[in-house]
Amino acid sequence: MNQQLLRKLGLFDSSFLGFGAIIGAGVFVVTGVASQTAGPAMLVGFVIAGIAALCNALSVAQLARIYPMSGGTYVYAGHCLHPAAGFIAGWMFLISKLAAASVVALSFAHYVQAVIPPIPIRSTAVALVLLLTLLNFLGVKKTSLFNVIVVLFTVTVLVVFSLVGMSKASVTNFIPFAPFGLRGILQAALLLFAYTGYARIATLGEEVENPQVTIPKAILIAFGGSALIYLLVSSAMLGTTPAAQLATGSPLETAAQQWAMPWLEVLIAMAAISAMVSVHLGQLLGISRMFFAMARNKDLPGVLSGIWVKRDIPHMALLVTGGFVILLVIVADFISIIAMASFAILVYYGLANASALTLAQAQRLYPR
Ligand code: ALA
Repeated sequence: MNQQLLRKLGLFDSSFLGFGAIIGAGVFVVTGVASQTAGPAMLVGFVIAGIAALCNALSVAQLARIYPMSGGTYVYAGHCLHPAAGFIAGWMFLISKLAAASVVALSFAHYVQAVIPPIPIRSTAVALVLLLTLLNFLGVKKTSLFNVIVVLFTVTVLVVFSLVGMSKASVTNFIPFAPFGLRGILQAALLLFAYTGYARIATLGEEVENPQVTIPKAILIAFGGSALIYLLVSSAMLGTTPAAQLATGSPLETAAQQWAMPWLEVLIAMAAISAMVSVHLGQLLGISRMFFAMARNKDLPGVLSGIWVKRDIPHMALLVTGGFVILLVIVADFISIIAMASFAILVYYGLANASALTLAQAQRLYPR
């Protein structure tokens, strides 16, 4: 029997799930790396990465509108290209997101250790996975409410950071603007990572109310809002701090140190933690829905497509998701796992775009 999840997420929930999945380590950590490769022209790298991400987001938005089901590109590529392409997309997503989820849980633990030193990193990471998996068992509506609260905190802190930073910014910090030329700017396009997450709501497409309208809108709201926040935060950071000094694991805190506002440094550390929490939550949601969709289609053992009717959640898929992430957290090697996750997600995006290219004119919201 093909069981379905119920539609419970409106535009507000959906957009915040997008924000929660997008705003994470990219803005809190990767901006430090990008400022080293490009200098202040990192802002241009952000725009280039944003254009690439936007094209991809539009492809996903119009596909999600036509196929509003759990599974995202697994479903689109399966319908538009070939079942084997869908199968590959599903596995690429699982590999990438399982790996990324373990990295985010470990990053969260590193931040927590900076605040409360005696806690071992891997124990904190495992605790996070366990707690958020349990939260998922309360149902998607309650999970979404928790996500909204966490995201509101993160975004408020980033807006305060931007306003304070802009009021202190000096144009001299933007000169020279592009010390490493075009090559440096293109390397800063690794900031594409910071935008990923916009497709999360498509992966949960089956649980979105009025999906034809809600999903494309939610994707664009989450993407546009995050892009704006990224540009404001980066401008504040670069306008107040010479780019060469931002080569730290927490560049926003480094910038805030210059402003002699210890309270803001503390808030930034807390916002980094809350951002990791929402990204991780979105990863667990997305991975579980992919397991569920593939199992329902017999591409994975059918037991994973079970639904706990009382809470309307794919409980077996959620258990397996939590279990796999905990396993990776325990055995993971950071760098190789990030490389694997990046490769797999680019294949996944490639298949989404190839699927979108097959859409007929009448099915399109946006040109090819
Ligand atoms: N876009 C997410 C982040 O920056 C994955 O952490």
